[in-house]
Amino acid sequence: MRISVIGCGYLGAVHAVSMASLGHEVVGVDVDEAKIAALCERRAPFYEPGLPELLGSVDDDLLTWTTDLAQVAGARVHFVCVGTPQMHGEFRADLRYVEAALAGITEHLAPGDVVVGKSTVPVGTAERIAEDLSSTGATLVWNPEFLREGFAVQDTLHPDRIVYGLPTNDGVATPAGQAARVLLDEVYAAPLAEGIPLIVTDYATAQLVKVAANSFLATKISFINAMAELCEATGADVTALADAIGHDVRIGRRFLNAGLGFGGGCLPKDIRAFMARAGELGVFDALRFLQEVDAVNMRRRVRMVDLAREVCHGSIVGRRVAVLGAAFKPSSDDVRDSPALSVAAQMQLQGARVTVTDPQAVANARAAWPDLSFADTPEEAARDADVILLATEWPEYRDLDPHALGEIVAQRHILDGRNVLDPATWRAAGWTYRALGRP
Ligand code: UDX
Repeated sequence: MRISVIGCGYLGAVHAVSMASLGHEVVGVDVDEAKIAALCERRAPFYEPGLPELLGSVDDDLLTWTTDLAQVAGARVHFVCVGTPQMHGEFRADLRYVEAALAGITEHLAPGDVVVGKSTVPVGTAERIAEDLSSTGATLVWNPEFLREGFAVQDTLHPDRIVYGLPTNDGVATPAGQAARVLLDEVYAAPLAEGIPLIVTDYATAQLVKVAANSFLATKISFINAMAELCEATGADVTALADAIGHDVRIGRRFLNAGLGFGGGCLPKDIRAFMARAGELGVFDALRFLQEVDAVNMRRRVRMVDLAREVCHGSIVGRRVAVLGAAFKPSSDDVRDSPALSVAAQMQLQGARVTVTDPQAVANARAAWPDLSFADTPEEAARDADVILLATEWPEYRDLDPHALGEIVAQRHILDGRNVLDPATWRAAGWTYRALGRP
């Protein structure tokens, strides 16, 4: 199948390479020349485990990259994978990249082509796009993406589920929708053959599935972080609490890790855009709880700065703080709305001398926060530090030796922002150990 992928970020680049690895003939398009130049040289333009190997293994004839949107002509299926960031100063999603992508491909579409929306959009957007495409003879399918950064290749080739939102008439897929489904089944023949569940529905449901899933995940994280606040008020331990409630299979232990909370390019902006859309639809009350989810999440960052102040006996002014981690989560170089960087910047603004390190994200972090200091290794960052903050739980930080680290710091104060260290081990090595939601 000839496929085009428009937008080669964390989602699109992985999607393009994955589809080529399944034997499809793929052209990936992006406006970012540096990104396309890297991909043309078979280099991944960002850190994503497994992507370089997959890029290297795909047949040259099956994968091309370009900045020229006209190259999508001749493809039968066009995946729209561009970003939908939060609008500046508002909760709404900024749809300008989706609109530009569609405006750019429209003249190259042929009747019978299928345009597949993967970007996360406010419910109602697909209906509008379908209307705009009607004169081309192409059909729109909404096919939300659920990939996690760090596991993007695995999640693209072996997703938990596949969702198609088709054009419908009285709840039944239109003939064009049914034809589009046949084409998409061919694209996803390999994962479908694995027995991966396929949910075929309408546009509205397909768009909602994505934001509903992300809202649920964000709520789960903020729930356990709210419990962490209760634990702090009562002397209880949120990690033991999470283990105990997580044994109930109806609750489950995954996504119950308390700490600095969620960040990244998806959860924070998706719940905000969802609230904004609910307001437009006149049902804001239904999502009012997401305001609390957001508030609990942001409070954790403030609380972490307070903890640093507590271990420094009331003031962080002039204190050296080493922040281990800049990425919003391990196995990623993505620093969009990173809790680690947000806390680092706050402490710096409040007078601390902050040095940040990260195995993969220093370049992106430096571009976003040029005023912070950066180090290549945890040891370099920790030298003469008064406080160490573990902010992103990379394996190499979880495995740090408290005795060796204790030799190079000025004071043995460790703040465990992700609740991944063993307090007893660190305390036995002479450290003051503090964490969110733990005694
Ligand atoms: C998320 C969704 O998981 C994915 O399905 C969707 O397609 C895009 O958004 P991603 O942004 O890659 O994926 O990250 P995810 O693994 O969900 O983590 C999000 C944030 O939550 C991270 O900052 C992580 O540190 C935090 N988190 C996660 C917690 O604080 N506690 C947890 O228990 C789990």
